[in-house]
Formats: sequence, structure tokens, C-alpha cells
Amino acid sequence: MRVVVTAGGTREPIDPVRFLGNRSSGKMGNALASACREAGAEVELITAAPPPPAAPGVSVTEVETAAEMQRAVWRALDRADVLLMAAAVADYRPRTVAGQKLKKSADELTLELLPTVDILESLRVHPRRTRVLLVGFAAETDDLLANAAEKLRRKGLDLIVLNDVGAPGIGMAADDNAVTILDRDGVVLTVGRSPKLEVARRLVALIGDRSARASA
Ligand code: CTP
Repeated sequence: MRVVVTAGGTREPIDPVRFLGNRSSGKMGNALASACREAGAEVELITAAPPPPAAPGVSVTEVETAAEMQRAVWRALDRADVLLMAAAVADYRPRTVAGQKLKKSADELTLELLPTVDILESLRVHPRRTRVLLVGFAAETDDLLANAAEKLRRKGLDLIVLNDVGAPGIGMAADDNAVTILDRDGVVLTVGRSPKLEVARRLVALIGDRSARASA
């Protein structure tokens, strides 16, 4: 199997030294890449975080912005069976990027933001869409299950991994995670608080079982 994994938080430049970012560390995506390798898959890791140490069978593409990540994902899906979209993609980017460092002044500064592309939604028209299992991640702080189910439908996903980013000790930038995985019919697996590699292994095992059943 060929698996594309995205990781980290995209950075949307404001000027040559500043960006809009988020707290994603890339740990969950890196854990997914490792778990996929352990399961024998060939992995392309598209990351907006500092890349992990080189590992056999994992090719790494470094990106910065949502637009760069979109281009890399579209290209990678030309030869992939599964997409694990763990990256925290910025929803907005500054309308203009200053060519020089913005200087401080006593005035208020207002940044005008434009929506970025939604990478998962954009894949609806990818020529290989129906041949790729699409797995999204839902970072939520409230109405967890309802929001995740709505995202799964809106983005046309096969599975969504719900993660309570408001809970202490799990989620963004933490070493542990706890997730609930849903498909179109509802909850299919819950994994209690565990190291991210363990959570990743459980998700990879679930995908392996489903693919085996689908091709039986
Ligand atoms: N995602 C994406 N492109 C974006 C934003 C998010 O492909 N521009 C993907 C994420 O990688 C994740 C899923 O969509 O797999 C859900 O991301 P999340 O941040 O939870 O949801 P949003 O769509 O950004 O919605 P909101 O911020 O309103 O919760």
C-alpha cells in the first residue's frame, strides 16, 4: 500500500520574518508515518513541521503554506491508496505578504485575512478520488461527535479521527492522544489516552482490516 500522511501546522507568511501559525507539532503525523511503515506500507510524509529523522521507506516533502501542502497532496495522490490528513492546515492567510519586515508604530495594525483552500474538499475533483481512502482529522473543543460527523460528510471522507483539542494532556503538541474514529454510519473505534504511536497503530490496523474486507 502507498500511504500519504500530512503533518504539522501550515505557516502563512505576513512578512519575511513573521507568519500566522498554530500549535500543531507534527507528532501525530510522524507517528502515523512510523505506524504505516511498521505495517509494511510505502509512505510519503508531507510536513509543515521540522521533518523527523530519515527512515527507510518514508519519503519526506517539506512545505510551508496551505497552498504548498495542497499542491504536494494533489501530486502525491497520483500514486496513493490512502491519505491520512493529520496536518493542521491554516484556514486563513494574510491578504498581502509584505516584501519587507513590517515596522513597529504606535498605531493599531489590522491584518486582512483571506480563506485558504480546503485541501480535503478540493480532492472531490481529483481524478483518483474514488481510488483513495480519505481519512481526515477533526480538532474540536465542543459538540465533538456532531462536529466531526458534519466534517466527514462536508469533506466527503471515508473516516474521520476526532480529537478533543481542549482536553489537557492530549491532542495538539502533546505526546499522547485519545481519539474516536467515525465513518458515515457513526463511531467505529475509540482509543483511550495513549502515546501517539499507539493511537497511530490502532488507526492503521483499522484501515488494514477494512481494506482486507473490501478486497475479500
Ligand atoms: N483541512 C484541510 N484544509 C483546510 C483545513 C483543514 O484539508 N484548509 C483538513 C485537516 O487536515 C483535517 C480536517 O480538514 O484533516 C479537519 O480540520 P479541522 O481544522 O478540524 O477543521 P476545519 O475544516 O478547519 O474547520 P473548523 O476550523 O471550523 O473546525
